[in-house]
Amino acid sequence: MLRSRIAGIGMYVPEHVVTNNDLLKYMDTSDEWIQERTGIKERRYAHRTDETTTTMGVEAAKIAIERAGTTANEIDFIVFATLSPDYYFPGCGVLLQRAMQMKEIGALDVRNQCSGFLYALSVADQFIKTGMYKNILVVGAEKHSFGLDLTTRSRNISVIFGDGAGAVVLQPTEDDNCGILSTHLHSDGESAEILAMFNPGTHANHWGEKNYADFDDAEIAHMFISQKMIDNEQLFPFMDGPAVFKKAIVKFPEVINEALNKNGYKTSDIKLLIPHQANLRIAQFVQQKLKLSDDQVYNNIQHYGNTTAASVPIALCEAWEKGKINNGDLVCLAAFGSGFTWASALLKW
Ligand code: UT7
Repeated sequence: MLRSRIAGIGMYVPEHVVTNNDLLKYMDTSDEWIQERTGIKERRYAHRTDETTTTMGVEAAKIAIERAGTTANEIDFIVFATLSPDYYFPGCGVLLQRAMQMKEIGALDVRNQCSGFLYALSVADQFIKTGMYKNILVVGAEKHSFGLDLTTRSRNISVIFGDGAGAVVLQPTEDDNCGILSTHLHSDGESAEILAMFNPGTHANHWGEKNYADFDDAEIAHMFISQKMIDNEQLFPFMDGPAVFKKAIVKFPEVINEALNKNGYKTSDIKLLIPHQANLRIAQFVQQKLKLSDDQVYNNIQHYGNTTAASVPIALCEAWEKGKINNGDLVCLAAFGSGFTWASALLKW
């Protein structure tokens, strides 16, 4: 049976390290609070003008493509996951296609936030399994630093996020002992507003409970980004952290077990679990619940913060570079976040 395998993997994080103490100049917080509640010691912030989500994705992609033993010219499809695109539209996929001077191949953007990379991987996996494509580039990249409210008001959100990118190249294989065994995707839109960035958007309720008919012409002329929206600082992400936390610690184990059960494996068979790096406390809770040893779980949120769609490929890449994953190892990837959406992938390296 045809399967997809990760033929090459790469990551890129900006040079600029921002410690917890560095954040004190913007907001009322402390290194102690951040480390105790999230495990984060530092994160990276992209260069404000020279680096974008796409340029970071390109850097990660170059490494993944080289490690896959192929070239940008051979890539026949792009799936790019991000919640912080360079432009509202078009997506980052086409910008990467242009930057890497690829052929006129398909480029798809995925907007599934923390689960974005796993959704992207799953889409790519289907195209490989049907035989439609032979070299798919899957990228997860984020430039959060540009869009965060770094004041005390949003400190619960802003301290956790960081910038970076990860990428893999998927290729077909007929080897039964390697490749993606299955992917599992879920959503529950009931909680969409619990972790969201509402503006700019087309929901048109920026000014409270007013009906569309009550807007005057001047307001209608500036519905998408209004002066009031700017004045009321409504252009930043919102998160009810405890509500996300509570749901995450249920859904992570559930979707990991789903992947194991589907393929007849037990938690003890996992060589390495790479959870989305949302919060170290969430990862530790999941580890405990599944009775996994420290060696079976890889975390690097301490150094990069939560990089949303980039977190799984960055952690996977780093774990592989450190020699923690070898041929034939059972690796589980899992994520949970805004939407809510959650997902897992089980693979033999
Ligand atoms: O990847 C996307 C998915 N996101 C997640 O998975 C995030 C899940 N949630 C979390 O990780 C945690 O909820 C947070 C780390 C975001 C927040 O931790 P928490 O323990 O849930 O804190 P909290 O929001 O309940 O706030 C507790 C207290 C509050 O003060 P009072 O009201 O008790 O006096 C906050 O104002 O901590 C305060 N606080 C802070 N204090 C210092 C919130 N953020 C900060 C901060 N520094 N950065």
